[in-house]
Amino acid sequence: MTLKDIDGLSIYRPVQYLGAKIRTLPAIIEATDYLLGSNGTCLDLFSGSSVVSQTLHAKGLKVIGNDALRFSFLITHALISNHQLSNVEKLLSRFVNSDSELHGIEKKISAEKNAINKKDPTVLIKQNIETLMDWDKKRLNLIASLNETEKWKNTAVLLYSGTYFGFNQAKHIDLIRSKIFDLIRKKNITLYEYSLLMTALFSTISQSVFSAGKHFAQPHLIKTEKNLPFISKRIIQDRSYDVLETFKIKVKELVKIKSESKNNDSYATNENLESLVKNRKLEKIDLIYADPPYTAQQYSRFYHIPEVLSEDKFPELQLVNGKVTRGIYPVDRFKSKFCSKKTAHEAFEDIFLLSKKYDSSLILSYSLSKNSATGNERMISLDKLLDLSRKFYGKNVHLIEFAHTYRQFNNIASVVNKKEDKEIQIVCKK
Ligand SMILES: C[S@@+](CC[C@H](N)C(=O)[O-])C[C@H]1O[C@@H](n2cnc3c(N)ncnc32)[C@H](O)[C@@H]1O
Repeated sequence: MTLKDIDGLSIYRPVQYLGAKIRTLPAIIEATDYLLGSNGTCLDLFSGSSVVSQTLHAKGLKVIGNDALRFSFLITHALISNHQLSNVEKLLSRFVNSDSELHGIEKKISAEKNAINKKDPTVLIKQNIETLMDWDKKRLNLIASLNETEKWKNTAVLLYSGTYFGFNQAKHIDLIRSKIFDLIRKKNITLYEYSLLMTALFSTISQSVFSAGKHFAQPHLIKTEKNLPFISKRIIQDRSYDVLETFKIKVKELVKIKSESKNNDSYATNENLESLVKNRKLEKIDLIYADPPYTAQQYSRFYHIPEVLSEDKFPELQLVNGKVTRGIYPVDRFKSKFCSKKTAHEAFEDIFLLSKKYDSSLILSYSLSKNSATGNERMISLDKLLDLSRKFYGKNVHLIEFAHTYRQFNNIASVVNKKEDKEIQIVCKK
């Protein structure tokens, strides 16, 4: 999305990601310099949006970026792995518009285009409210009338049109995704190109989604009596993104960034921490950087749409009291042990077991929330984490504190309480 200059390094933000460490990167660089200098192999255990993996890679370290979510793996792969790129213009010429085969969709697209051209939000808001209200009745019937291939090819239109995305946007998301999968199945593109194209698609949907906070936890809930002026502006703005064109711009951006970055055999993996501890053996690792989730909020809920789009099957939908959830979540979302108080301690212990398995140093990010009443309560306390750190690393444990506030606001008086989160790096030297 944007290029950030962090200590002279260009870092790309492919998606709006909750808890992305953009503002903490200087502290992470400081801790890495202290532990490793600019030589060695680093495991970014929870790579998320890939910004930390990119930073360490740009500093010249070999990086293995890992995440349990597949879409995050694809993003990290695209941004740090060795790149081989074919002719971009030729590749992009394969992505062309065509009409939807689904009954009634082109009519909806036409009404939508008219509204966007006239900058009239009424039709768009009506489509949104009607879709939300009639979802189970209309969409489930439509889905039931299609075979598996038809469902897969029209995933975004069937599941997310009229709410998260406009009808035309959803049609284009399906078109781009089908083409990317078609190209990789026929081996017309490399795995690297596949990850780059998928990253451009994720970046495009992150920019154009009509939701609070630009994640995918839920579509905007429109309350006509309450937030109409705000919603009217946003729906016009978000629905106006031309998905096909935005995707092509993103591909070119990514290709340019990658052509300027060095290949150094960094790569991404798509593993759950538990399986990294128990099963998989990676190469020698000098440093583990760990930025796990700290709250009850599951990333698979906030990012279920890119996750569903990265699959080659149509999802089975989660039902609550016999009805599809407003967020339209799939049943088999990944549930992280870090997001429950019952299992968090064990999950954190696994991080230390992993660092012991590789005899590596460890940097663990922790964010202290000032406001525990916001629903962002931490699943483990800093004291418990420090106990664990000392159990495994003895006296070789240090803290680097980093306050977000002064970087975020020029005027200290405008700081709101919940924004005063403080980031701490627990630095464990082997
Ligand atoms: C706080 S985010 C990481 C953000 C990242 N550092 C960035 O700057 O974008 C935590 C990540 O941990 C991943 N995750 C959660 N539980 C996991 C597990 N058990 N194994 C591997 N990844 C996990 C989530 O998918 C999420 O992307």
